[in-house]
Amino acid sequence: MDDPVVYLNGEFLPLNQARVSVLDRGFLFGDGVYEVIPIYGGRPLRLDEHLRRLEDSLRSIRMDSPLSRAEWAALIGRLIEGPGDQSVYLQVTRGAGPKRDHAIPKETKPTVFAMCSPILPVPVVGVSAITLDDIRWRWCNIKAITLLPNVLLRQEAVDRGCAEAILVREGYVTEGTASNVFAVIDGVIVTPPKGGELLPGITRDLVLELACAAGLPAQERRIALEQFANAEEIWITSSTREVLPVVELDGRPVGLGVPGRVWERVAALYQDFKQRLRTEAAV
Ligand SMILES: Cc1ncc(COP(=O)(O)O)c(C=O)c1O
Repeated sequence: MDDPVVYLNGEFLPLNQARVSVLDRGFLFGDGVYEVIPIYGGRPLRLDEHLRRLEDSLRSIRMDSPLSRAEWAALIGRLIEGPGDQSVYLQVTRGAGPKRDHAIPKETKPTVFAMCSPILPVPVVGVSAITLDDIRWRWCNIKAITLLPNVLLRQEAVDRGCAEAILVREGYVTEGTASNVFAVIDGVIVTPPKGGELLPGITRDLVLELACAAGLPAQERRIALEQFANAEEIWITSSTREVLPVVELDGRPVGLGVPGRVWERVAALYQDFKQRLRTEAAV
């Protein structure tokens, strides 16, 4: 798939023919929002929840959704290529203004872009992570395309041989650069509560829901760095990385330094959910 078909402003066209204006406010200011939706067996995972979050992000930046839910669903349906695991990327920017000006122009036409990519298999051996100061803004609940802090923090993790940087604000863990975090502390699954400090992850909510349905103790509460560093298990979650165990944090083993028992249970529940999505009519 060298030149896949993408969607841009009402048209389906080859990726290398897709063009946007250099005056697009997404390009000039990072003035836009996005979504990433995993697709299994040709079916989007939690589509309504993803579209609701997109609408919330748009509302937070003073924009209306350019498409209805049914139109988004139809668009996604046309981009999906075959039954393999893939993810759909949706991006809406405020569009091009007449000149470069921070203030929002009265009339702009949003730029709507979407593309589909294969989801790569997730490693099951566990990954290393570092903790870094959360230098981002206070509206991290918006899935904004303005991702420079996340890019620089992730690169610092990569430079140090790690898969993710877990961010810490005023002594408490918030989330990863592109993932939510979970810890198992005294046998309880814990994740920080929603708010401006983190993105309300769709995978995070699904993991909490699956854990609760299976009778596993789970809590949403703030996690102090010291507690986090001594947790029995740490996981990161995202649409493309699913539930990924962190086995080393800041150069020290997490628990026994291998994926934990609670993770095994929750990861199996997650795989089972994906499998049901592929094969059952309603999940
Ligand atoms: C900052 C951040 N937090 C959390 C997540 C996880 O969200 P989701 O589970 O909806 O993919 C992401 C996903 O990219 C993210 O960028």
